[in-house]
Amino acid sequence: MNYTRMTPVEAASLIKDGEILGLSGFTPAGSPKAVTAALAQLSEERHARGEHFQVGIITGASTGDSCDGVLSRTDSIRFRAPYTTNVDFRKAVNSGKIHYTDIHLSQVAQRLRSGFLGHVTTAIIEACELTDDGRVYLTAAGGISPTIARLADRVIIELNEAHSKRMIGVHDVYEMERPPYRRPIPIVRPSDRIGLSYVQVDPAKIVGVVEVNLPDEARSFQEPDPITDRIGQNVADFLAADLKRGIIPSTFLPLQSGVGNIANAVLGALGRDTNIPPFEMYTEVLQNSVIKLIKEGRVKFGSTCSLTVTNDCLQEIYENMDFFRHKLVLRPSEISNSPEVVRRLGVISMNTAIEADIYGNVNSTHICGTKMMNGIGGSGDFTRSAYISIFTCPSTAKGGCISSIVPMVSHQDHSEHSVNVIITEQGVADLRGKCPMERAQTIIEQCAHPDYKQLLWDYLKISAKGQTSHCLSAALGMHQVFMAEGDMRLTQWGKFVK
Ligand code: COA
Repeated sequence: MNYTRMTPVEAASLIKDGEILGLSGFTPAGSPKAVTAALAQLSEERHARGEHFQVGIITGASTGDSCDGVLSRTDSIRFRAPYTTNVDFRKAVNSGKIHYTDIHLSQVAQRLRSGFLGHVTTAIIEACELTDDGRVYLTAAGGISPTIARLADRVIIELNEAHSKRMIGVHDVYEMERPPYRRPIPIVRPSDRIGLSYVQVDPAKIVGVVEVNLPDEARSFQEPDPITDRIGQNVADFLAADLKRGIIPSTFLPLQSGVGNIANAVLGALGRDTNIPPFEMYTEVLQNSVIKLIKEGRVKFGSTCSLTVTNDCLQEIYENMDFFRHKLVLRPSEISNSPEVVRRLGVISMNTAIEADIYGNVNSTHICGTKMMNGIGGSGDFTRSAYISIFTCPSTAKGGCISSIVPMVSHQDHSEHSVNVIITEQGVADLRGKCPMERAQTIIEQCAHPDYKQLLWDYLKISAKGQTSHCLSAALGMHQVFMAEGDMRLTQWGKFVK
């Protein structure tokens, strides 16, 4: 190989204060690990000498601790987009230390190309193979790699032996043109391939190759519990009923599923339910539950941006690549999450809410309207364009002290115009074709926890009548009571009515 081999520290020392870095990966899958960790170490040394050192970081989605974790703990991130799940990063964002721009994941590449996010100086891309003519074969995620590789002044490759070269051929790399030259994306089935199996990089821009053997920093999932199992079964029953009524065609439609414990449990329940025929996925992350369903023949094909699976699950995929190669395609995030394709394929979206209000507006990102949790991720890309958009959540959080169904969401990510169905362990609120007051009745009746039902009915009684009834002085009263007294059940509407 003609490229200069470097240690992680040598590569990190090329990065100067104030740079904007573009990173491969999508979730901890496929993210660089060694150079970012070395950068945090160098940054700490520079800070100890009294030097300023901070960078901007743009990725496909979240990363692992060796990126967002170490860099936020060492105060090395000036701004960051578009999504993260790291606890220390979250603390830094919520204390105002890091400027965080939460972006729909399908839009990151386009915003980079258009210059909305500044100029990416260095791209760090994890690869399982690299050729002298600049073909970079990605690992467990597509992310924004094609775009940052093209836009960046220089490219550092983390050649990671922990990822099998058997990944070669699984990716389908396709980058969109800028308007007005953009063409339709020619995907009409989840399994369609439209691009190359590698990212083409100008070899002259590859300043160094860092050889590593580091597994992805995958999170493990909590086993489904009776609540998440019940939510999953409610989703399955709802979809089976729509299938029976002919709303969903007998061939079924591709599914998208969000991240996290609840999404993993929902997929598990759908797979078990034999009323649901084998189905395909057009989604941004595939978690462990889907890999199991592919093996069982319940999922026929998975189009995704990343394999967000545990490491033993990833190794199993690598070992059985002759089987999985025909069942999987990995795409860049602007394609996996493309609203154009989602609308064309008739994708059924299933995402998790932090809270939903009685009219069907959904908060996916902010706790009590102020503290960022993770970010909107791809939930907006899919929800707005889905054939049927579903949000799931447990009816309560924090041991019952918080109701996930509230009079008015404390932050809004998805509006009543985009949300079709809300599902908790209590039941299913089908909002399609309903006016706001009908929606409120259905959501309270079907989805709210019994501890909160009367409180929500009473809220409607004190509300000023309108197409959407509200009592503005009380609309966030349950949140205020939780912040003051630690339990929304203590809410007394009389104290808020002016
Ligand atoms: N108020 C306060 N905290 C709440 C809450 C509420 N209304 N609802 C949930 N939480 C807390 C939970 O208690 C839990 O806290 P913990 O980590 O301290 O235990 C945490 O949020 C995560 O909730 P959990 O029930 O474990 O669900 P999850 O792992 O499925 O995550 C989201 C739920 C909403 C945070 C997650 O799905 C997300 O970030 N979504 C936005 C991005 C997205 O939808 N992407 C989809 C495309 S991939």
